[in-house]
Amino acid sequence: MRVLVLNGPNLNMLGTREPEIYGRETLADIEILVRNRAQELGIEVAFAQSNHEGELVDTIQAHRDWDGLIINAAGYTHTSVAIPDAIAATGIPTVEVHLSNVFKREPFRHHSYLSPYVWGCLAGFGFRGYLAALDLLHGRLTEGTAE
Ligand code: DQA
Repeated sequence: MRVLVLNGPNLNMLGTREPEIYGRETLADIEILVRNRAQELGIEVAFAQSNHEGELVDTIQAHRDWDGLIINAAGYTHTSVAIPDAIAATGIPTVEVHLSNVFKREPFRHHSYLSPYVWGCLAGFGFRGYLAALDLLHGRLTEGTAE
């Protein structure tokens, strides 16, 4: 079982970026936590981050035959058509993750272009959202329960 964990713009700055909103963990810290959990579950993970929309699309396409996608598209969540198109084109079961609870924040963060194309969305649980997403995909892929 292979799962891609993909992070969008400015998430490379986690740790110092508005820690009161996004937490004190760096993306490298989150990667270690995700890799440890993946190892326990027997999941192979690839972890990637880009500040560029096209690169995120390229990475999704390159993993089109993988079993699951965990994506925090960050600011592109609220602007991108190309990223949800890539998710739809590949058909990868996807969990959308946001560190912060976007629904408690500015109105422009309340709309996600990805949400119609993903299995589900976790927002507001900090780094734990990534771990929960991994558990949820593992359950879906092993138990075969789609919904
Ligand atoms: C975010 C929320 C987005 O609104 C924001 O643009 C981000 C991070 C989150 O993880 O809470 O960059 O996706």
